[in-house]
Amino acid sequence: MTALDEELVVVARSTTLEPPLDRGTERVAHLRAVTLAALAEAAAARGAKLGPLEKDERDAPRPSGGWHWSISHTSQGALGLAVASVSRSPVGVDAEVVGRGRPELALHVLTPAERALLATLDEAAAFARAWTAKEAVLKKLGLGLMALSELRLEDASGDQGVLLRGDTRHAVEWLSVPPFVLAVAGQARERVDWRVDPRLRAGEHDERRHGRSPS
Ligand SMILES: CC(C)(COP(=O)(O)OP(=O)(O)OC[C@H]1O[C@@H](n2cnc3c(N)ncnc32)[C@H](O)[C@@H]1OP(=O)(O)O)[C@@H](O)C(=O)NCCC(=O)NCCS
Repeated sequence: MTALDEELVVVARSTTLEPPLDRGTERVAHLRAVTLAALAEAAAARGAKLGPLEKDERDAPRPSGGWHWSISHTSQGALGLAVASVSRSPVGVDAEVVGRGRPELALHVLTPAERALLATLDEAAAFARAWTAKEAVLKKLGLGLMALSELRLEDASGDQGVLLRGDTRHAVEWLSVPPFVLAVAGQARERVDWRVDPRLRAGEHDERRHGRSPS
């Protein structure tokens, strides 16, 4: 790890998806623009000059100007969310709405042993943490969902977790900003600098104390 990678910057921006931005191509284009703005903010925070943003045959972002980058976007009703990180080393970010399950993937996302590691959380929060952590690691590795079942949550303590794939451990860090949970996977020991817009921070709380967010 270089000195530059001792801090991992993650930018999260919210947006309002009201008409005419509430559906179809306008919604997608707007969320894309907000995501690119978050990416630009993350790049500026790192002093990174990104070149063209290209993806490989698996849709994984290719390093740009020598920098790795990762994005995620989602929404809950009219509240849109865009997350981005830029790093000298491989990085993956993911954001999901707590309470939005993927039943067909449930057993790959949260096994009984993994559930036990997240015992202080309710079912929806535990699922969202396991899901975002695994997606963040898959994105860091440039893999798709097909590799989901290769990942195991091995440890979780507060907002930090460790995932195992083969013999390799991947550190993740979460941030709860209801109705969303965010996860980032970088190198092992960086401090994560979450740069979250105030509107999201206003809803920030610990889901262990306040219970499940409405979905
Ligand atoms: C990577 C993936 C898990 C993310 O999906 P998601 O949570 O719905 O979407 P997010 O908003 O969090 O992330 C989307 C971003 O992830 C990135 N991404 C997509 N595939 C990626 C991959 N293989 N590796 C790293 N990053 C990837 C892209 O930058 C994408 O942004 P864009 O679509 O605006 O260009 C999913 O798109 C995927 O698995 N894609 C690969 C295809 C695949 O395996 N399909 C089989 C399904 S069973």
